Amino acid sequence: MMENITADTLRETYLKFFESKGHKIISGASLIPENDPTVLFTTAGMHPLVPYLMGEMPHPAGTRLTDVQKCVRTGDIDEVGDLAHLTFFEMLGNWSLNDYFKKEAISWSFEFLTQKLGFSPDQLSVTVFAGEGKEGEEGYIPADEEAAAIWRSLGIPDERIYRLPREDNWWGPAGTTGPCGPDTEMFIDTGREKCSDSCRPGCHCGKYVEIWNDVFMQYNKNAEGKYEPLGRHNVDTGMGVERTVCMMTGAKTVYDTEIFAPLMAKIDELRDTSAAADMDDEQIARARRIVADHMRTATFILCDPKGSVKPGNVGANYVLRRLIRRAVRYGRMLGIAPGFTPVLAETVAAKYSHVYPELSANLAQCKADLEAEESRFTQTLDKGEAMFNKVAEQLKAHGQSQISGKTAFKLYDTFGFPFEMTLEMAGKAGMTVDKDGFDEANRKHQELSRTTSAGSFKAGLQDNSAVVTRMHTATHLLHAALHKVLGPTANQKGSNITPERLRFDFTWPEKMTPDQIAEVERLVNGWIADGIEVTKKTTTVEEAKAEGAMALFGSKYGEEVTLYSIGDVSKEICCGPHVANTKELGGFKILKEQSSSAGVRRIKAVVSNMEP
Ligand code: ALA
Repeated sequence: MMENITADTLRETYLKFFESKGHKIISGASLIPENDPTVLFTTAGMHPLVPYLMGEMPHPAGTRLTDVQKCVRTGDIDEVGDLAHLTFFEMLGNWSLNDYFKKEAISWSFEFLTQKLGFSPDQLSVTVFAGEGKEGEEGYIPADEEAAAIWRSLGIPDERIYRLPREDNWWGPAGTTGPCGPDTEMFIDTGREKCSDSCRPGCHCGKYVEIWNDVFMQYNKNAEGKYEPLGRHNVDTGMGVERTVCMMTGAKTVYDTEIFAPLMAKIDELRDTSAAADMDDEQIARARRIVADHMRTATFILCDPKGSVKPGNVGANYVLRRLIRRAVRYGRMLGIAPGFTPVLAETVAAKYSHVYPELSANLAQCKADLEAEESRFTQTLDKGEAMFNKVAEQLKAHGQSQISGKTAFKLYDTFGFPFEMTLEMAGKAGMTVDKDGFDEANRKHQELSRTTSAGSFKAGLQDNSAVVTRMHTATHLLHAALHKVLGPTANQKGSNITPERLRFDFTWPEKMTPDQIAEVERLVNGWIADGIEVTKKTTTVEEAKAEGAMALFGSKYGEEVTLYSIGDVSKEICCGPHVANTKELGGFKILKEQSSSAGVRRIKAVVSNMEP
């Protein structure tokens, strides 16, 4: 095995290796995607390269590229704290833009893993796409026997080549359009026992750790959700820096590598170890990792050169808030005194700023943002804890040991006290919580607020309801157009509709230029002219998110929501009502663009079909 591997040496070894194979080294992109409303953060190296993968234009650096891309993925946030899941990670990539294909990609992956890094071929298991559909029928895609044969020719025996379906071995846009295709994934066997007879690469027990994925992009997912030949053969690969260093050094988890060492040391230095007396070692280990992971991610987001994501209530801002607040909550459990988040941001910056200079350039602002968010949340927690103690005392005085669902919901709804905290504190106080009662109260509240808003909507509409419905659909188109023109940080702050006009508030720091306004109008009118169907379905927040729905509300996971889609233009969780087809709007005109409050702009607009 290559000696003393670190994230620094791995990045360098990787880029040099692919440079020696004719690749040009290019810089990674911002964590905040450019003009791409389908993702809140850059989740893979392919995002910034989509136009080149689609063949819309040649890449200035050529057809073989290699890079390191910062990525944020929060889909697996609940798994953070295990062996290998992280919300931020660095992805090493080599790219063929209609240049080499499977044979070269797989052979170079194998050469790099075994000859450069020194993994034994015996440690390696791989997966390939199992194919789907029937030959001769529509939608048929054959199994990737070509990839399997290449692996066999390199000496990987067939029993370590697993053929898996789309969920495992297809990389591509979830619910949106774009380049995609079957992939082959490389796993290191950690040597642990199998968790069951069916344990195989892709199983989450920790035996197999995926470190690299080679995607063969030969398809395009079109607006109807069909896979059509892309007419190009691209290679998109992603190797995880943290996991690879972990596997090479034999560290127990990614958090036990040199990458996290300063952060873990700092967390331990700040901890009052007497505080977490009621937690077992496993719980403490997990809490330390969650704090480390979330603070690393939050620091990278806040220091991003785009500087546009701040803790808030929608979209990317909400994800950031959730990361910071979760870190604060776990830090508090571990007995870390308030005010710690800026200190940990400094530790992250010290570790990374030689590679990502934005981490030192933007550190002061990042620390200020963290301090403000931490202090807001700490106040909420302090108040909630005081309320909890009061309630608990009263109940105990009456000989009761259960907190009702209604009380838990009040703590959550009125005081913003997280339900998990109620559970935790109840546990400490030797009390129980009526969980079902809490869920029930939460559900009723949601329904009530929906009916109320639907009710007031109706009351205000009467015979003008058709006009208002059209305006409502227009706000979704406007939101999508603002994302396209201004970027994903132009997020909805509020909206109000009367039969005379729609009003739409969104986050944006400055006056829009006349060109930007004209472009937004042009896009919306284009979508109206296209006559796009508006569809709705009942789903969960998680699924809506996986499909790329724009607004993320603070709803509970698993709760049912209605997702409105306007073709591929817009996906929003919303209560409706909407028109069935965008052509019913007739046309769209912006009347005014003005300031609403600090950092928030307001647009007033109309549709041209104002007939009741
Ligand atoms: N885009 C591929 C991935 O993220 C390489 O796994």
